[in-house]
Amino acid sequence: MRPTTITKLNTGAQLSHSVFAQARDWIECARSVAVLTGAGISAESGIPTFRGPGGLWNNYRPEDLATPQAFARDPKLVWEWYDMRRQRVAAAQPNAGHRALAKLESHAPNFTLITQNVDGLHRAAGNRNIIELHGNLWLLRCVSCGRQEENRCVPLSPLPPQCTCGGLMRPGVVWFGEALPADAIRLAVLAAEKCDVFLVCGTSAVVYPAASLPERAIAAGAHVIEVNLEKTPFSQFAHISLRGKCGELLPRIIRVPPFPEPVI
Ligand code: OAD
Repeated sequence: MRPTTITKLNTGAQLSHSVFAQARDWIECARSVAVLTGAGISAESGIPTFRGPGGLWNNYRPEDLATPQAFARDPKLVWEWYDMRRQRVAAAQPNAGHRALAKLESHAPNFTLITQNVDGLHRAAGNRNIIELHGNLWLLRCVSCGRQEENRCVPLSPLPPQCTCGGLMRPGVVWFGEALPADAIRLAVLAAEKCDVFLVCGTSAVVYPAASLPERAIAAGAHVIEVNLEKTPFSQFAHISLRGKCGELLPRIIRVPPFPEPVI
């Protein structure tokens, strides 16, 4: 049965023992868990976030590098930026936060990991039921024939890469002004609306439609737990909002098993 008690346990700076116990309890008792992750979960793997100190958008303008117009204008420049990011990710390893979520998937009766990240580190950590809302850095797609391929070469050469049809290959990610893959957002909404517990990890919760998923989970009756270094626009709505690093806090609230038997 879906939990109905909504306990306001926003913690601010104070991380009391009972808040962790409550979060663990909700997770352990859940029949269905969904997770939304953002750049913050990969920060401890050495991958820069987009906003905040050291964030990519402090040094680069999205309109120069992450729009279809930017690619049409200067595909080489756009590819150089993505190639730099691919090189950084290629040298990175999943961290304790990624590993905690992989452990959770291996024990939870129903588990969906929804990520805005394009780095592939959740799969590297062992998660399998992953919805990549913003695509993946390792995918290339032809702008002429639509052919898609996985390519893990770093550095990529020559830039921009070409398709066998002669068209230009673009990064297989979602750019500003583009729609999210229809199946990805449909399945993400379904997971948010049917879960008992929804974890929101390392996202500034400002980019829609991803940012609407925790709101949908709350509206559908789930317990929502946020883990973030800082307060976000969503923090005030989370049932529990924990301040700190994903790599430190997720292993503290994900202590599995036991989980209930799945209902057939
Ligand atoms: P942001 O860079 O907007 O936010 C990262 C969040 O992670 C911030 O709220 C930080 O406080 C938090 N954070 C940083 N380090 C952390 C850590 N070790 N543990 C916990 N939290 C930490 O990244 P996203 O929310 O993922 O879209 O950004 C969403 C989208 O905006 C991205 O997918 C990208 C970007 O523009 C596209 O490129 C389409």
